[in-house]
Formats: sequence, structure tokens, C-alpha cells
Amino acid sequence: MLNNMQQNSSLPHKIVNVTNAGEVVVNVTNENVSRRARVREHVNPLAKKYSVAIAPPVWTEIYADCSKPLSLDIGSARGRYILQMAQLKPDWNFLGLEIREPLVDRCNEVRDELGLTNLHYIFCNANVSLAGLLTKNSLHEVTVQFPDPWFKRRQQKRRTVQPELVATLAELLVPNASVFLQSDILEVAEDMRLHFEDNENFTNLAGKGNFADDTIFPEHIPTERESSVLSQGLPVYRVYLKRK
Ligand SMILES: C[S@@+](CC[C@H](N)C(=O)[O-])C[C@H]1O[C@@H](n2cnc3c(N)ncnc32)[C@H](O)[C@@H]1O
Repeated sequence: MLNNMQQNSSLPHKIVNVTNAGEVVVNVTNENVSRRARVREHVNPLAKKYSVAIAPPVWTEIYADCSKPLSLDIGSARGRYILQMAQLKPDWNFLGLEIREPLVDRCNEVRDELGLTNLHYIFCNANVSLAGLLTKNSLHEVTVQFPDPWFKRRQQKRRTVQPELVATLAELLVPNASVFLQSDILEVAEDMRLHFEDNENFTNLAGKGNFADDTIFPEHIPTERESSVLSQGLPVYRVYLKRK
């Protein structure tokens, strides 16, 4: 876990974090990631313009070494979580999927500014494009963190974690791959947990119907939303599953 936050005046707009193990991880401020991006708060993933699946990139042109295990963050927003993870775990490749295009463009610019060759962000509707992006057994970890809640009953089909997405992930993930889910909204966290538990390919490590506590959920870098929620003293509901 990162613990020593320090501003480095020689790196304007950048924050240098030093981990307990002495690793240096560069992060950027929110302001910096959205500097050139005017972005909407929410977009409707069921809108027609998000209904077409994108073609997969040529992965060997994306990552310097495609043989590394791949970690996927669905709904990566301003991308800071995998920006840091890609530096902490250089032996992994990281992929963020995000439906708000200006954020993705800026994330990839920041990635290039930092010269990271194990990190990439793609603008797409994950619910529409994920199945065609990756091949069976090519994914080693997935995170869905603080997805948009869409509270109204008639809008709940807009939520990211749907049975079809879980079925797609079951196809893509290798056996024993980790699935990390988080939300500050109890109803959303229960909904995500239920969809994964309803799929026979996943095991909830905390036991069916339970959330993961700190003894199970691995120590991790907080996402932007997570930091905001925790700083307000609000609860976070976590689920940790394995692909069977
Ligand atoms: C509340 S934000 C959380 C961002 C980040 N994971 C965090 O924890 O700070 C949820 C993100 O998911 C994105 N999103 C929502 N539906 C999506 C979809 N179908 N495909 C890809 N991204 C989506 C939103 O645009 C938003 O950036």
C-alpha cells in the first residue's frame, strides 16, 4: 500500500508516491488528467451510439511484451488506478476500458508521457465490445470498481455488471484468475455479487452472500472514487472471487 505521499516540485502536475518497498510510482492529479477533457458526468451505455462493438487492436503493437499476464479494469475513468498498478507490477500488462472518450485519450497521453509500455486504455462500451476484444483464456485478473449506480429501477439495465458480461468474463479469464469488485452503494455491490455468484464458473472467496473483509481482500491501491468515499468515512463493499 502506498503510504508516503510527497509532492515533487520537479514534476509539475505529477505526484510521486513511494511504497513501503521503496518503489517509486508516478501518479497525476485529477486536474491534470482532465486538463484537456471536458467530460460528461455519466453517459447512457444503452444509447445507440455506444451499441457497436469496436474492432480489437493488434495487441503486439500495444504492449511491449504480450506474454505478460493481463489485468483488466472495467470503467477505468481517469485511469489513475491502473496507471499506478502498471508501475507497481511491471511484469503485468494493464488494460482499461472506459466509455467516456476524452478521458481515454488523455489517459493514453499520460501513459506515453510516462513511457509505460505495459498500459493501455480503450474507449468502448465494455458490455458491447469486451467479448470481441480478447480471446478465451487471455485474461488473468479483472476489476470493476465503483461502477455507475443507476438507481432508478428502469435504468438498472445500464449497470455495467450484467449476467452477459459475467458470462463473457468466464470465457476470457484463465482458471484461478481473480475478480475484484467494489462499490460504496450496498445495492450495487449486492447486485454485482449476485450476478457473479449466479454464474457457476466463479467462487466467492468470502462464501456465498458475503462481502470480503480486510482479511480476504488483498491490500491494494485505492481508486479515485474509493479514496473519496474513504475520506468521507463511508463504507466500501468488496467482493473477491476466483474463476474456477
Ligand atoms: C463511478 S466511475 C468509477 C471510476 C473508477 N473505477 C474509480 O473507482 O474511481 C465509473 C466509470 O465507469 C464508466 N462506465 C460506465 N459504463 C461503462 C461501460 N458500459 N463501459 C465502459 N465504461 C463504463 C463511466 O464512464 C465511469 O468513468
